[in-house]
Amino acid sequence: MDLVSTEAAIGGEVEGLDLNDEPGEGVREAIRGFLWERGVIVVHDQRITPEAFLSFARIFGEPDEHFLTHYAHPTHSNILVISNIIEDGRSVGFADAGRVWHSDGSYLACPVAVTLLYALEVPRDGERTLGDTEVASSAAAYEGLPAELKGRIAGLEAVHQVAGRRRSLKTGLPSDREEDERQPDVVHPLVRRHPETGRRYLFATQGECIAVPGMEEGEALTLIDALASEIQRPRYRHTHRWSEGDLLIWDNRAVQHLATFDYEWPRHRRLMHRITIPETA
Ligand SMILES: [Fe+2]
Repeated sequence: MDLVSTEAAIGGEVEGLDLNDEPGEGVREAIRGFLWERGVIVVHDQRITPEAFLSFARIFGEPDEHFLTHYAHPTHSNILVISNIIEDGRSVGFADAGRVWHSDGSYLACPVAVTLLYALEVPRDGERTLGDTEVASSAAAYEGLPAELKGRIAGLEAVHQVAGRRRSLKTGLPSDREEDERQPDVVHPLVRRHPETGRRYLFATQGECIAVPGMEEGEALTLIDALASEIQRPRYRHTHRWSEGDLLIWDNRAVQHLATFDYEWPRHRRLMHRITIPETA
């Protein structure tokens, strides 16, 4: 197995690994360390069953279940199906995931630590694949802030609400929006610390964050938007262009991500399986 870093602030590739072979403890340790260091890593050319996917994902912890349970894999409730495919008038998966920059499950009391996304079908326009995933370093963005701003946000928190300000976009299915509204709001620090590396990272998104306790609304949203925009600077970003068989793994305690919606049903088919590993309390 080879671990190859990109030239960018984040990103890397694991070469010479077949996820059908149970990795030994040395390999597990090396993959975890590489992910903590690079924030997002890819393993290309995999052909794995849901069972093999779950078994590999457990090197990062115990998988959780998404609250939109009707998009779960039919026989594996820990796998979320992400897809734009419609069969018999019904969506086979969650079609609307990741429309704005975010960190998975930031609206949960125990947010998602690690996300694993496996591509079964990738949309194409001729030779060009569509539906890239953009990833950006929330840790490098924090480190790059002026000292004055670091001081100003130290100790501040933000209220996260599922689909928060994004509800006004009115994308996705109305029934999903009703389920969104049943999820309670949670509060997290604006700056968090990675439990493995100790590195600090920004935890603010324009989709989920709706308030800063103790701060007037206009000022709070201006601050959240400013911090979120820092993360999106080109120098902190990495684009993943998908191929079938890719497994992309990201650490939500180091990066944020964004889905690209440049494909459409029924001209294009996109089918992915996702597993998320929550933070431990
Ligand atoms: Fe996401």
